[in-house]
Amino acid sequence: MSMPKTNLKFVCNNCGAEFLRWQGKCSACNEWETLEEIKISSRVQSSKLKVQSGGVAAQLISLDKVDSKNFERIKTNISEFDRVLGGGIVLGSLVLLGGDPGIGKSTLLLQSLVGISQNKSLTKILYVSGEESAQQIKLRAERLKIKNEKIFLLAESDLESILATIEMEKPNLVIIDSIQTVYSDQIASASGSIVQVKNATESLMRVAKATNVPIFIIGHVTKDGGIAGPKTLEHLVDVVLYLEGDRYQSFRILRGIKNRFGKTSEVGIFEMEENGMTEVANPSKVFLEERLEGASGVAVSSIIEGNRPFLVEIQALCSKSYFGYPKRTSSGIDLNRLNLLIAIIEKRVGVDMSQFDCYLNVVGGIRIRENSVDLAAALSIISAAKNKPIDDHTAIFGELGLSGEIRSIPNLEKRIEEAIRMGFDKIVIPKQNSQSKLKPVGKVKFIEVRTLKESMGRV
Ligand code: TYD
Ligand code: MG
Repeated sequence: MSMPKTNLKFVCNNCGAEFLRWQGKCSACNEWETLEEIKISSRVQSSKLKVQSGGVAAQLISLDKVDSKNFERIKTNISEFDRVLGGGIVLGSLVLLGGDPGIGKSTLLLQSLVGISQNKSLTKILYVSGEESAQQIKLRAERLKIKNEKIFLLAESDLESILATIEMEKPNLVIIDSIQTVYSDQIASASGSIVQVKNATESLMRVAKATNVPIFIIGHVTKDGGIAGPKTLEHLVDVVLYLEGDRYQSFRILRGIKNRFGKTSEVGIFEMEENGMTEVANPSKVFLEERLEGASGVAVSSIIEGNRPFLVEIQALCSKSYFGYPKRTSSGIDLNRLNLLIAIIEKRVGVDMSQFDCYLNVVGGIRIRENSVDLAAALSIISAAKNKPIDDHTAIFGELGLSGEIRSIPNLEKRIEEAIRMGFDKIVIPKQNSQSKLKPVGKVKFIEVRTLKESMGRV
């Protein structure tokens, strides 16, 4: 780097912004007295100085001559995990695994150590925990049936001693559980604060790069949306993964948000079970498994996660409302979207929804962010209100506009293929989309619809 070296910097404890000089007010978030000093930890500094004081000019490599063969990767041998990582863990990379407390981050990483330790070149894996004692981790490992002489535990939260241990023990892979528990004595700030968490992450990044050892850090998403949580660390690390799902349901989605060594469009699907996380190779099948055929208020649609389509079951329940103000509850779909769908149903179809409390649910704890399920959700609500089931073999795709018109959606072919694969033979699609070259297969019937009203009579 050509910039002059400073070993000091200031970080705002409120928003995480960084400054070279102290100032009374953070110019990023306008809070007063929130800047704190970060000193680069002495141990890391000394190892860094060693490299620099050598003063031997580096060799230049012409871009043409750079070996473009793939990065050296360690496979976790959990295929859903490897895919999200872009083919495995790159040597010397710093990977952040974020997610709500209790979602299964520790479980997933502990489990992945079994597959990781199958790599012959790895002899020592270090699991650093500031959250649980070695005994607690051992108990969990027993529950997960993990028995492995390559895994070493360190119950420690002091940054300097973690760094010293890595330097001395030279493990092949390190897991830090969690970054919020790691603190440095050299910083006055409390553990878990932005300043501590950032400082620890930067130190670990330097160690990963200097030693070529990959390091995983676990970060809890905090309730208020991530102050001192993983969000403030995203730009500091090589790979950012989030584990999502509903704590009280079993499905988990592992999502790649950033990856300096691969695509970010991949997701991995898991199910949290009695003995840890299991991979879900055929999500559509699992999500539809417990479907009650012939029930009213149920519709099947699809979402695209990563590059894969999968089918989801949407359930609505409408019950007579006894108060002046009918209740609307939604899980898996944004409540505002539900309110909008109900308004469209009242206005454009003329179903009186004011007499019903209305509950909407996406089976499996999946959170849907696309509007391509609008039509299915609206039809499930109408089906519930009229107590008239939708045909069991029908899959429904389409977005709803405010006039009750059905809008085209992306990746329709992929969704249709998945629906056909799962045995659906009546497929409701937006008329808008039908210009594309859709080929009906066998007895599969496409029902092209223009408006919500028109689609009602056809499911
Ligand atoms: P955990 O991995 O500790 O979550 P995190 O590290 O993200 O905070 O997972 C905690 C939850 O998972 C806990 O409520 C118990 C449940 N669990 C299982 O259902 N099966 C299992 O095999 C294990 C180990 C945990
Ligand atoms: Mg944990």
